[in-house]
Amino acid sequence: MNKHDPQGTNSSKPALEGRDGFLDQMRQAKENAGRNRTARLERQPQPAARQPLRFDALPEYQRVEAQRKIGAVIGVDNPFYRSHDEAAGATTVMGGKTFANFASYDYLGTNTDPKVLDRAKAAIDQFGISASASRLVAGERPVHSALEGALADVYGVDAAVCFVSGYLTNVAAISCLVGPQDLVVHDEFIHNSALAGIKQSGATRRFFRHNDVENLDAVLRTLEGNFRRVLVIVEGVYSMDGDIADLPALLDLRERHGFWLMVDEAHALGVLGATGRGSFEHFGIDPREIDIWMGTLSKTTSSCGGYVAGSQALADILKADAGGFVYSVGLAPVLAAAATAGLEILREQPERTERLHRNGSLFLECAKQEKLDTGLSLGFSVVPVLVGDSLRAVQLSNELLEEGVNALPIIHPAVPEGMARLRFFITCDHTEEQIRHAVDVTARRLRALEERKFGLGSLSLEQMVQISPLLQAGEKT
Ligand SMILES: Cc1ncc(COP(=O)(O)O)c(C=O)c1O
Repeated sequence: MNKHDPQGTNSSKPALEGRDGFLDQMRQAKENAGRNRTARLERQPQPAARQPLRFDALPEYQRVEAQRKIGAVIGVDNPFYRSHDEAAGATTVMGGKTFANFASYDYLGTNTDPKVLDRAKAAIDQFGISASASRLVAGERPVHSALEGALADVYGVDAAVCFVSGYLTNVAAISCLVGPQDLVVHDEFIHNSALAGIKQSGATRRFFRHNDVENLDAVLRTLEGNFRRVLVIVEGVYSMDGDIADLPALLDLRERHGFWLMVDEAHALGVLGATGRGSFEHFGIDPREIDIWMGTLSKTTSSCGGYVAGSQALADILKADAGGFVYSVGLAPVLAAAATAGLEILREQPERTERLHRNGSLFLECAKQEKLDTGLSLGFSVVPVLVGDSLRAVQLSNELLEEGVNALPIIHPAVPEGMARLRFFITCDHTEEQIRHAVDVTARRLRALEERKFGLGSLSLEQMVQISPLLQAGEKT
């Protein structure tokens, strides 16, 4: 009992003795100090209370709004977020109308294959939808190891690890493997997900000129030596341009500089090589030579998710340390099962890859005959048609829709200003007629737009007066 307060009226808690009493005294002292500090601060003149910022006052929002209003003033519809009524493959249906579709990644036509659908349905029946937890704790299912085994087989390497998206795979893997004492050098056209991974890692970042191994050599010669680890990142097939990384030359360079080579196969799996196994098959190199294979499950395997394949040690490190694996839910079992079925189709039906090669070559050949500018594309999964002016690219996409063709524009900031394009994804299921028609109408409509000089430069004075404050608002931000 407290002799100064025998009734216990001044304290809600009985006094404690020993260790607990000591901790209680410490807490009280801290609370008193806090109260004194608050009282002192309240006696001083107070700054105006900080108001939370409104999202619609942010420059980011004003830029979005400016784009929307410019579209309305110029009378050009927004081509983005077009909604599809059913599964999109070589053909799609939107608003009840059928279109030849060049805007989906379904390179080998697996998205609606009965084998994939059956396996996905069976996985739902057995496991439900979600992995329900990180695989580390309670989210592991046999479909995960089956998929990782199948991916390791594709590359002929020890192991693979899958993540819940391709984007996250790059972010999680890069930020796990390198940190502030390290250097990452990447092709200037690398995907945004790799850039996000490098940023998160805190590593020093340098880029080299697109597909220019000599320039990479020069960058490495000026920088090497001070870093703990050096990582070089390239893409098997470049997602915006459709050309491919020169892996043999990069491997030669690695002999001299001792970096890790990471190859993003998002658009190369199922696409490059006679049987679609990717860049290593295309070049006839030993896949074990590459330190880090990365890819997505959303393109050729028509699922969702991403993977890293390589040595057992690499897989073990990622499974133990990559935040995006350890602290994120496991890949949904249904997606793992669908991707595994997609890989089986890739292995069992190499004729799909052959058809894809034929279609890509046909598209490129027709486009060249029509004198369309396909940039660097080699006619695999991705063929851009360069348009230049962003507004013209948007208008061309809208006009193609009137012709029964769905192909989306890529504009700044995804590509440099003045390099706007339509990007065509080719699949093994496109028919010759669809390809010839798509190229034909693209050439015809683009020529008409060029003749009219349609673009930002062709706007009427009245339109310019209306949009110039909006352009300025966008620029200021
Ligand atoms: C080269 C490249 N890497 C990574 C990704 C991210 O993959 P996902 O869309 O499956 O998240 C993409 C997506 O388009 C890509 O093009």
